[in-house]
Amino acid sequence: MKILIVGGAGYIGSHVAREFLDQGHDVLVFDNLSTGGRENLFPEAQFIHGDILDYPGVLAAMRGVDAVVHLAAAKAVGESMAKPEKYSRNNLVGTINLVNAACEAGVGRFIFSSSAAVYGEPAYLPADEAHPTNPENYYGFTKLEIERILAWYDKLKPFRFAALRYFNAAGYDAKGRIKGLERNPANLIPLVMEVACGMRSELQIFGDDWDTPDGSCVRDYVHVSDLARGHVAALDWISREDRSLVVNLGSEAGISVKQIVDCARKVTGRKIPAKVAGRRAGDPARLVASSALARKELGWTARESDVENLVRSSWDAYVRAGLAGNK
Ligand code: UFG
Repeated sequence: MKILIVGGAGYIGSHVAREFLDQGHDVLVFDNLSTGGRENLFPEAQFIHGDILDYPGVLAAMRGVDAVVHLAAAKAVGESMAKPEKYSRNNLVGTINLVNAACEAGVGRFIFSSSAAVYGEPAYLPADEAHPTNPENYYGFTKLEIERILAWYDKLKPFRFAALRYFNAAGYDAKGRIKGLERNPANLIPLVMEVACGMRSELQIFGDDWDTPDGSCVRDYVHVSDLARGHVAALDWISREDRSLVVNLGSEAGISVKQIVDCARKVTGRKIPAKVAGRRAGDPARLVASSALARKELGWTARESDVENLVRSSWDAYVRAGLAGNK
């Protein structure tokens, strides 16, 4: 199939593009390079430098395409509360442009990067897809709104989608084929890596008085290469079943902030200074997925998401990028 990967030069998108190429698909990457980089483009894939807010440009990119995989979004939770307009424009208007262009071009298969942020404060764990959706930040709200729009298009148009609710995406391609590191990372593991490299003086642990085994927050970290396989499996599923799907992609393992830091100290051999700071607003104590549906429908499980692998593949990427120095 010919797959249009929107946001395919980004952190997760480049792993997804790699996986579709590995599975023998033709890949066309569409990206405005605002956060992605040219170093993440593969020579076997075609590339269009374009923006999802440009409807004619998006429509032109759909020509001859069999499916759209959409990962182009702003994703910083804190920023979404300070600058909702940016998230409305990119995540809502931009995605609606893509969906409308897909319909106009007769492309009836759409894979959407959703997020566990749609759930909000967990009412129970592990969170399955039936868990109530009450996003606590504007980012999660944009993801949920798009899921609702997609569900309407499924009813009204010859249009099938898979919304993939990622938990905490982390790690890098084990074979080192992704060259670009995420710029200005806001997530725990890359921040830990930057401290290990000496790019930051210390890590702040947001609270050690949570109701968790070691007092620090527990999350479900899922390797981006596992996520990438999930996209291919989801496209196969909606093509075969001619139905739409909303599904969690998580490792089902709850890992604490302190476990990540301890593992990173071991893997990197660096001290990684960390001090306990106050709790961060909006953080739940624990968030862990049930991926039973992905297992049942997609035959998908997280294979590369053990904590050591997440940390090691991240560290290897920082070493390859020449950021680790020789401390
Ligand atoms: N944390 C720290 N110090 C830091 C950064 C993070 O202690 O400097 C802690 C957080 O408090 C949290 C954990 O590390 O307990 C993970 O934090 P991240 O910011 O990496 O990720 P979040 O769990 O807040 O959110 C991530 C994505 C969201 C997504 C969510 C789904 O950023 O987009 O996972 O589970 F919605």
